[in-house]
Order: sequence, then structure tokens, then C-alpha cells
Amino acid sequence: MVENNSPGQNSYPQLARHLKAAGDPLRLEILRVLARDSYGVLELSRIFDMKQSGMSHHLKVLSGAGLVATRREGNSIFYRRAAPARGAETERLQTVLFSTLDRQPLPASISTRLADIQSERATASKQFFAENAAKFREQQDLIASFPVYAEQVQELLAQTPLPGTACALEVGPGEGEFLAVLAPRFEQVVALDNAAAMLEQAQAQAAREGLDNVTFVCGDTGEARRDQLVTADCVVVNMVLHHTPSPAAMFQDINALLRPGGAVLITDLCRHDQNWARTACGDLWLGFDPEDFSNWAASAGLEEGQSVYFALRNGFQIQLRQFFKRAATG
Ligand SMILES: C[S@@+](CC[C@H](N)C(=O)[O-])C[C@H]1O[C@@H](n2cnc3c(N)ncnc32)[C@H](O)[C@@H]1O
Repeated sequence: MVENNSPGQNSYPQLARHLKAAGDPLRLEILRVLARDSYGVLELSRIFDMKQSGMSHHLKVLSGAGLVATRREGNSIFYRRAAPARGAETERLQTVLFSTLDRQPLPASISTRLADIQSERATASKQFFAENAAKFREQQDLIASFPVYAEQVQELLAQTPLPGTACALEVGPGEGEFLAVLAPRFEQVVALDNAAAMLEQAQAQAAREGLDNVTFVCGDTGEARRDQLVTADCVVVNMVLHHTPSPAAMFQDINALLRPGGAVLITDLCRHDQNWARTACGDLWLGFDPEDFSNWAASAGLEEGQSVYFALRNGFQIQLRQFFKRAATG
């Protein structure tokens, strides 16, 4: 019997739209830039140094062909690469196109503008915590109060197989309440926060609790990775990713900071449309789809473990995710 691998009659327009949309050097560069992070049209116009109307046109073509997807963050639309649709005629084409693009270097001018935008996002987030450290808990409680998720994280941590108990890293400890859970379990705990005012609060809290094995470091995971700050058995990241300019980059950093076989536990909000959280709580992103974390973790080389989802009374949903760095082989 001859197997019929030819696309169905209706696939031709779809394939042509795909190829046509991709058949433009600028649009290919846009897809390259959208490899990891999402950007708004104004940011993309800046990155490519072109008018917003021109950029909007290219994004429309790419989105019409299913090559980019959009997500609304308050009043802004953010563009990202669309995941290849499973089973569609275009799936393989799109996968090969994206992996080919990922091997292409970015022009220096574009890399510089991308770095500028990431740095502006980070500055806005840092500034929020610098200015609001004193009323931190009040603001946090508007969305999710710490005990609601801390208990679940503690439970999952107790069940998580780890390569050792030498070192834990907590990214963004805030007021430092979770340090009291980590300190008795690990020989050494590193608390890494990029807002000095928050770190001071965490330090004061640790002193009150009599925790003497916690080191406090002011910085972000990119700096920690560059400085090879730790090789952690476990990394905990509670309610931090929605404040970070590039959550995808943080997954890569965490993988680099983990010992082989080590685990990362991440708590964050599921996607929501409560735009007030951006101003009231300094959120850069209105939560995340569970697949966002799965995809970023997979690209960073992390393997998926357990997931726990729970709803809060105020309508927010929380995701608690566990990922592992592959154990060393041989
Ligand atoms: C919403 S608070 C969460 C605090 C604590 N983990 C909790 O669950 O209560 C976010 C914390 O992450 C810190 N933060 C935000 N972005 C960060 C980054 N890129 N690197 C390190 N810390 C960061 C903030 O300064 C703040 O202390």
C-alpha cells in the first residue's frame, strides 16, 4: 500500500502563508529576537529602529501565518513566537525554521538594544521594591499571602529528592520568611535579592529567627551565574518570576546554578487579567501559562517534576512547579 504523505488540499494556502511570512529577512530577524522573550510593538520598533506602523505590519503578517502569538498585559499586547501547532502540516516546517534561526547570530546593534530594554525592565522592578519595601507585606497580601503558598512549597520540598543538603539558594526572598524553612534543612543557604532594601529586611528576619547559616547577596541570577556564586542542591523561587525582565533567562541561570540532579521549586501566579497588579504590586507580567514554564525549563535543560495548582479566594490561581537538572552521566 502506498502511504499518502502529501498535504491535504486545504494545507496549501496555510503552507504558502507560512512560507510567505517567513520569506523576508526582517521578519526572520524578528522571529529570531522573539526566540526567548516577548516584546511589545513599541519595544520591537525600538529594537529594529523602525516606525511602529512598519513593525505592526510585519507582526500582523507573522501572526496571520501563525508564526507569532500575542498576549495581552494590561493595555499592551506582547508578541512572542507561537509554539508549532501539534499535528498541523506546518509543525515540522516551523520547528525547523525556529531551530535554524536560533543558530543565527544577532547583529550587535540589535543585541545592544535588547540588553537596554531588559535593563530598563529590571530597573523598573528594582525601583518598585526599593520604594515599597516598608509596605511589602501589605502589597503582597493583595494577591496572595505568604502562608497560603509557603505551606505547599514546604510540603513539596520535603518530598523532593535532592543530590545533597549542602546548599540551597533562595532567589528573591523578600522579607525572608522562607529562609526559616530552608536554614534547618541545608548546611548553607544563600539569599539572593536584587533589592538592597528587601535584603535588609530578610537579614533582620533571619537574625530574629537566629538563623546563622544564611548568606545574603544583593544581585540577580544573571550576576550570580556570572560570578559562579553557588552550586546549589536546591533553588527556591517564590513569587519572583513575574517581576523579572526575562523569566526565560532566569530558568537558564538557575540551571547553571544547580548541581546535577538538583531541584528548583517555583511558585508563581497563573495567567490573569488583573492589570492593577502592575502598579499596585510592581508586576511586570500578569502571571504565566503553565506551558510557559514547561517550555522555558525544557529550553534550559531542566526536566519537569510535579506540579501543584491551587485557587485563591480572590480569584488568583497559583502554580507550584518542580524541575530537575539532569543528573551527571557516566
Ligand atoms: C513578590 S516578592 C516575593 C518575596 C518572597 N519570595 C515571598 O514569596 O514572599 C519578589 C522578591 O523578589 C525580588 N526580585 C525581583 N526580581 C528579582 C531578580 N531578578 N533577582 C533577585 N531578586 C528579585 C524582589 O526584590 C522581592 O524581594
